[in-house]
Amino acid sequence: MTTFTINGRAVDVDAAPDTPLLWVIREHLKLTGTKFGCGIAQCGACTVHIDGEPTRCCVTWLEDVEGRQVTTIEGLSSDASHPLQKAWVAEQVPQCGYCQSGQIMQAAALLDSTPNPTREQIVEHMDGNICRCGTYIRIISAIQRAAREG
Ligand code: FES
Ligand code: FES
Repeated sequence: MTTFTINGRAVDVDAAPDTPLLWVIREHLKLTGTKFGCGIAQCGACTVHIDGEPTRCCVTWLEDVEGRQVTTIEGLSSDASHPLQKAWVAEQVPQCGYCQSGQIMQAAALLDSTPNPTREQIVEHMDGNICRCGTYIRIISAIQRAAREG
């Protein structure tokens, strides 16, 4: 049994210690906003926060989060009121949408540490999050809007 906190709620998960956290989040805890893309830490679709750090949970094992705080897209705000969520709507960022929860979680970590990032800082920070629909320009605009209107 592994105990950790997810979106402010303490959970006990009965699964093998080397179960990918992504599987635990989606299959055991039924939080399906976090997506499976590549499974090898190359796309960012599975990005969550662990103790505030953006983390690829497809290559994080259940045993790694014992006693830690995990936040998924469902926990970013209870009512979609996070500045990034509002900016994402205002800028109409998503196309297919598949990569977007990972994009938002990656961006949220940037604004936590750097509330007014430059365009270069945004591009550098978001570099590992792939969007096959090519929404990159709108992602940058939405992060800039969230920083401005936050
Ligand atoms: S699914 Fe985890 S980085 Fe691609
Ligand atoms: S919106 Fe389709 S992959 Fe990013």
